[in-house]
Amino acid sequence: MTTYDIAVVGGTGPQGRGLAYRWARHGHRVVLGSRSPERAEATAAEIRERVPDASVGAAGNAEAVAGADVVVLAVPYDGHDELVSSLAGELAGKVVVSCVNPLGFDGLGPYGLDVPGGSAAEEAQALVPDARVVGAFHHVSAVTLWGDRDRLDDEDVLVCGDDEDAKRVAVELARAVTSRDGVDAGRLRIARQLETWTAVLISVNKRYRTRSGIAISGLSR
Ligand SMILES: NC(=O)c1ccc[n+]([C@@H]2O[C@H](COP(=O)([O-])OP(=O)(O)OC[C@H]3O[C@@H](n4cnc5c(N)ncnc54)[C@H](OP(=O)(O)O)[C@@H]3O)[C@@H](O)[C@H]2O)c1
Repeated sequence: MTTYDIAVVGGTGPQGRGLAYRWARHGHRVVLGSRSPERAEATAAEIRERVPDASVGAAGNAEAVAGADVVVLAVPYDGHDELVSSLAGELAGKVVVSCVNPLGFDGLGPYGLDVPGGSAAEEAQALVPDARVVGAFHHVSAVTLWGDRDRLDDEDVLVCGDDEDAKRVAVELARAVTSRDGVDAGRLRIARQLETWTAVLISVNKRYRTRSGIAISGLSR
């Protein structure tokens, strides 16, 4: 297995923490990024408490990104473009995995936002043309990620992107989460569907009081 140095931008939030925990638990080296290195360190300590042998560091976002092979964007859509622009120099040339879901909520429930660049992932790519952006991990719940199961082997991670090598990295990183390769879902513009699809899962969760995920049928494993 290839192991990666992964920076998780927004690593103090539930999704970043959950993904970092999964990767640390399965042999990758992770640095949590935050606007506050102290907050990042507190979250890193939570992960190390659960996985004492893991390599989990903490830093400000820019420092975390600068030292990584792979950068994961795990921040809210609100403020996403400003953050990505502020990290453009550090993100250039890197594999950048976005799990950002631009969603709105009103009295009728969750819905996918229409965003100017088509999707958060495409906006990140447009803001940093030299980065190799992929979309992935939109549909795994933060609570499930932080749970005790060794691997979430009833779920799939859908991956989209325009750079085949970058997509391959995300496909591999999915193994630490689900036990199997991520599923190549197509070009980066497919992020428009992947990101907004999360509104469907949240609706199902509310109706059935569960934490739903996705699994793709018809593939030979
Ligand atoms: N929660 C889930 O179950 C889930 C599942 C799949 C995908 N996602 C997606 O993953 C992303 C993160 O989700 P989350 O629930 O972990 O979000 P969150 O808790 O709202 O935010 C994550 C972290 O982002 C940083 N952040 C917040 N606002 C920021 C801003 N304006 N600029 C820069 N950094 C900011 C904060 O870290 P610091 O204050 O420490 O910098 C925060 O702890 C979202 O796009 C979400 O749609 C979430």
